[in-house]
Amino acid sequence: MALLMGGHSSEREVSLASGQNVLERLDKERYQVEVFDPAIDLARLVEAAPNLDVVFPVLHGAMGEDGSIQGFLSLLGLRFVGSGVLASATCLDKKAAKDVYRQNELPVAQDLLLSRRLSLVAQLTAIKKDLGYPVVIKPLDQGSSVGLTIAKSPQEAKEALQKAYKLSSQVLAEKFLSGRELTVAVIGNDRLRALPPIEIIPAQGREFFDYVAKYTPGQAQEICPAHLSESLTEEIGNLALRAHRALGCRGLSRTDFIYSEGVFYLLETNTLPGLTENSLLPKAALADGLSFPALLDTLIDLALDLD
Ligand SMILES: Nc1ncnc2c1ncn2[C@@H]1O[C@H](COP(=O)(O)OP(=O)(O)O)[C@@H](O)[C@H]1O
Ligand SMILES: [Mg+2]
Repeated sequence: MALLMGGHSSEREVSLASGQNVLERLDKERYQVEVFDPAIDLARLVEAAPNLDVVFPVLHGAMGEDGSIQGFLSLLGLRFVGSGVLASATCLDKKAAKDVYRQNELPVAQDLLLSRRLSLVAQLTAIKKDLGYPVVIKPLDQGSSVGLTIAKSPQEAKEALQKAYKLSSQVLAEKFLSGRELTVAVIGNDRLRALPPIEIIPAQGREFFDYVAKYTPGQAQEICPAHLSESLTEEIGNLALRAHRALGCRGLSRTDFIYSEGVFYLLETNTLPGLTENSLLPKAALADGLSFPALLDTLIDLALDLD
């Protein structure tokens, strides 16, 4: 099998950390693993393709999680872990994913799609009129909270927009949701299983689940399973299952939520969530009795349709 890690995106380091962990924990008796970095090794991957039975892309963000690699692997006739081109592309575009959620009556925060072509003044006027403050400014196609700001004033929003446009030509401005943050992983192809929800509580002084909170031990508390009643656990699990199905995901996904005033709002669905030992999906799997190596076996079996 081929393990893909690295890539071109702003989440390259995260991918390398996840990939290294996957490499260490894969059952060496079962798999003969060759590692490729799509940023440098595409030609070598093409050469190796006829001898590969499955590919495990441990990539995040653009050119890894957005359908590009998935299309490339499909062209090569290879089977791979995770979603195909359309679901990957839809999920990495936060607006496209929200359109699918809306069509399926899944709750989302009110938003505005902004583009560089509009003047900053016009953008700030629209934000004030439609959303108010605080407002969440997100580049359309980044992950790991890269380029994301919670702006409390027009001045902060202006700076946040400038920062976000350095990363994407389009930006999503979203109504700030105040509440509890949760995430739910789903695994499976036809028979889907929602793993126990995890509640994320950023450390004191951290405003939200930002890049540092995500990857620095101690900067966020992750409670798994989340302290939710049985019926709320079922409700959020069903929302994650519906999102996974509506988006056409395959193998695995992880949907982020904010629980605000009695409603679970969907923020986004990740098609290739982090796979370090401390990442959320492995934690949820463990809480459900699935060790990390067993989780990897399951994901590879799903890629091969052996489940
Ligand atoms: N509408 C919102 N209201 C409040 N907090 C938000 C909102 N959108 C995002 N956040 C915060 O920002 C983090 C990252 O947002 P998310 O949409 O999941 O993007 P990504 O994880 O891909 O960077 C969330 O985990 C949450 O802490
Ligand atoms: Mg997220």
